[in-house]
Amino acid sequence: MSDAAPRTPRVFSGIQPSGNLTLGNYLGALRRFVESQERGVDSVYCVVDMHAITVWQEPEKLRGTIRELAAAFIASGIDPERSILFNQSQVSGHAELAWIFNCVARIGWMYRMTQFKDKAGKNTENSSLGLLAYPSLMAADILLYHATHVPVGEDQKQHIELTRDIAAKFNHDYGVDFFPMPEPVIEGTATRVMSLRDGTKKMSKSDPSDQSRINMTDDADTIAAKIRKARTDPEPLPETWEGLAERPEARNLVNIYAALSGETREAVMAQFAGKAFSVFKPALAEVVVARLAPISGRMRDLLADPAEIDRILGRGAERAAEIADPILARAKEIVGFVQSR
Ligand code: TYM
Repeated sequence: MSDAAPRTPRVFSGIQPSGNLTLGNYLGALRRFVESQERGVDSVYCVVDMHAITVWQEPEKLRGTIRELAAAFIASGIDPERSILFNQSQVSGHAELAWIFNCVARIGWMYRMTQFKDKAGKNTENSSLGLLAYPSLMAADILLYHATHVPVGEDQKQHIELTRDIAAKFNHDYGVDFFPMPEPVIEGTATRVMSLRDGTKKMSKSDPSDQSRINMTDDADTIAAKIRKARTDPEPLPETWEGLAERPEARNLVNIYAALSGETREAVMAQFAGKAFSVFKPALAEVVVARLAPISGRMRDLLADPAEIDRILGRGAERAAEIADPILARAKEIVGFVQSR
């Protein structure tokens, strides 16, 4: 492993198995992962179970959520033969490199992270040490594979910037050009899907209100009901996208429609200009159901055979470790560790 290793393009991304997957995870992440795979880029996708336990998870429930998330990757179109799909805790290099990065990154960098502030709330002193160090593990996830591109939703941009800071400081401190500077890939129409109850908050699997989100496993009636009750304003839809500038809830719904139908926002605006939400919402529900129903159906089929999911994750972890092991070994050598077995 030479230090200035050739930067062949490689995609890495991860999702936490920490509850219901939402339409935000699908549009901001999963669907983009499938696009990378289809472009033929070397792609590594990870169920980040070690990140999930930074907040309490019931062990039995976590095991189920890990398998469910793996099923969601496959049902969304990730082919575990073409891409690498595995769960993080099966490749020990993530934890090992994260430790090295814990000693490179500064505590102040961690306190500045929005996700830490949101999740720790007022109770910083009482949150887990893992929650604070979380971005260092995320940097290890990405850099353990020398990944160059990281498809994520808007909310993860700050963590990727921190990953670049950690890579740069490691390279600088040790006088090497070993870790690449990964690029966040945040593009398209729905990089930030908002809550159905509040158009200024992101749609999140941890929001206490289930009405705020569409879960990937919601059935057609539930999806239609949630969209019908989604907060909007009394005005009909305007003719142009710009006309929605001050209307976050309406903008969010149009964005979702455009992302799922594959139409531009302008085309959606032209189609629904002057129409009331009583017309737009049922059309939106139809588009959402048409996209999610086949995925949740396939997820159910896959989950009927958990042993097969475990086999896929195990095989994925072996392939992931083949890439990770030499990179970790070289990182340890750079740091000055003696490795004699
Ligand atoms: P997580 O599990 O919260 O979310 C997984 C992915 O879904 C995207 N996402 C959204 N996109 C658009 N609109 C939304 N409302 C929305 N909600 C979630 C997220 O941006 C993310 O891409 N720290 C990461 C997981 C992680 C990771 C990594 C990602 C760990 N290691 C390495 C990339 C590379 C997280 O908590 O994502």
